[in-house]
Amino acid sequence: MSSQQEYILVTGGAGYIGSHTVVELVNSGQNVVIVDSLVNSSYDAVARVEFLTQTAIPFFDIDIRDSEKLSEVFKQYKIKGVVHFASLKAVGESTQIPLSYYDNNVNGTISLLNVMKENKVKSIVFSSSATVYGDVTRFGDNSMIPIPENCPSDPTNPYGRSKFMIESILKDIHSSDESNWKVAILRYFNPIGAHPSGLIGEDPLGTPNNLLPYLAQVAIGRREKLSIFGNDYASHDGTPIRDYIHVVDLAKGHIAALGYLAKNTGGLYREWNLGTGKGSTVFDVYHAFSKAVGKELPYEVVARRAGDVLDLTANPARANKELEWKAELSIEQACADLWKWTVQNPTGFKVEGYEWKKFE
Ligand code: NAD
Ligand code: WQD
Repeated sequence: MSSQQEYILVTGGAGYIGSHTVVELVNSGQNVVIVDSLVNSSYDAVARVEFLTQTAIPFFDIDIRDSEKLSEVFKQYKIKGVVHFASLKAVGESTQIPLSYYDNNVNGTISLLNVMKENKVKSIVFSSSATVYGDVTRFGDNSMIPIPENCPSDPTNPYGRSKFMIESILKDIHSSDESNWKVAILRYFNPIGAHPSGLIGEDPLGTPNNLLPYLAQVAIGRREKLSIFGNDYASHDGTPIRDYIHVVDLAKGHIAALGYLAKNTGGLYREWNLGTGKGSTVFDVYHAFSKAVGKELPYEVVARRAGDVLDLTANPARANKELEWKAELSIEQACADLWKWTVQNPTGFKVEGYEWKKFE
């Protein structure tokens, strides 16, 4: 550690999107310090990021709600900005244990913001979600598809509401001190894929909730078949449409947002969609992944999943223009990278009889 050097603090940096973003941050020349409670990740991800980047990355196993411990990190490292991923993220679980979601996500962010304020760090990139828009078909026509950032928010579950609350808190603190707080709200659509090295990827605990992690476990023999939740939607093949974005493209969006904040002399609050602008159905993704694996994977069509909507496709024009960022990678590439990660790590980060050591 050097007291002269400036660092980007990454909360949740051991997680799926966080770990990929740390790689891009280090590759773009930033010093990074990670804080993660490991509630939904393992230290192995950090060790692998260190190996990939050949860089030692300070890591603190801290819950961001622990303001005292978090404050010590700010005292030890000169933090110039924060990329804030730390959050619980399972929509279904959030309806079962909403208080835990509000406590972890909203109180966690308030704790982080207090510590940032005390330490005069007022630059933050926040992981929001397309889920804040809710069901955009409520407008009765297709006027909000693809979804622009000015589409009114109406999240339909506690997880989404926790994201909307945090966006509101960030907007309020910016309003209270407009010349100083720089806030970038990044609304991610559906992140998929893995690092092309096959060293880091998504490693869900328990049964995967999301389409591609589930399909990958079918392909590697950990699950019998994919359940496709309904084929009676108004799409070309009856399955819902999403904007699937390669996690490496998404990670690069954070570098672009930090660059935008850095070159802006005053304070700012701004939302950007991070998506491709291209919608794909469940069957489109199923076929792309089957092609990557080299065989048709078993599936059955079952009833619709509660809460699913027909179409969540981004209009990414604002990010394309203002952040000078554009998603470049196809779903085919994401599927190939996911399959590489899955084959190399059939049981995820934990490898029997091998422990990743901290890079020195
Ligand atoms: P993830 O669960 O893999 O990563 C989140 C990380 O935060 C984990 O490593 C977890 O251990 C850590 N964490 C959670 N609560 C914490 C706390 N109180 N203190 C410290 N660390 C804590 O999830 P991800 O997919 O990488 O998502 C990252 C962010 O992006 C989250 O904020 C999520 O809500 C948001 N997001 C994700 C998706 C998606 O589909 N993956 C889509 C939109 C938005
Ligand atoms: C995609 C499509 C399912 C699983 C979620 C969150 C959202 C955001 C991204 C965090 C849907 C279908 C899925 C399966 C299926 N996360 N599907 N069988 O629901 O679009 O978005 O992740 O912010 O908030 O809600 O993603 O991957 O769960 O589903 O048929 O086993 O795949 O019906 O059409 P979703 P998903």
